[in-house]
Amino acid sequence: MKRLAVFASGSGSNFEAIAEGCRSGAIEDAEVVLCVCDKTGAYVLERAKKFDVPTLVFNPKEFASKRDFERMIADRLDAERVDLVCLAGYMRIVGEELLARYGGRIINIHPALLPAFKGAHAIRDAFEYGVKVYGVTIHDVDSSLDGGRIISQVAVPYEGDDIEELESLIHKAEHKLYVETISRIIG
Ligand code: GRF
Repeated sequence: MKRLAVFASGSGSNFEAIAEGCRSGAIEDAEVVLCVCDKTGAYVLERAKKFDVPTLVFNPKEFASKRDFERMIADRLDAERVDLVCLAGYMRIVGEELLARYGGRIINIHPALLPAFKGAHAIRDAFEYGVKVYGVTIHDVDSSLDGGRIISQVAVPYEGDDIEELESLIHKAEHKLYVETISRIIG
């Protein structure tokens, strides 16, 4: 059994897709053993409860530095014997401490075809730019913002003018790609 940790700050629909993928067998021989969340009250915590996944919730402001809270997280990842960290809407740049201890075992999902539209508002930025083909990227995490080696991508063609419809298409593509990619890299 491969042991996954999912980091999220918000809604957690990707968390749910991964947890459901493990439960259904779409991701074979893996389980989500920890949900790490930096926001008290984030909806991902409800989803974690639903899937019986233990949570590590922390407030970064209660730590003197990023190194300190990342040390606390990495200690817990060690304790849970985590094989792969999946960032799924974790709205922080991973720092030196986590990279030193888990580098090469951390992946992220980004709702655009990198290297285009990096940053926190990728869907809106691409929409405002007027692109006709959107997409999703899964990549290794290194110290750059959305810059690590690309693992997988999928295109999402959309020529309409309804950003909510677009977001929903992109999220669907994310859930599918994350499940397929995790399945492939741990298999
Ligand atoms: C996703 O669009 C992901 O690509 C981005 O943040 C969003 C998280 O959505 N990094 P959710 O919390 O998984 O629903």
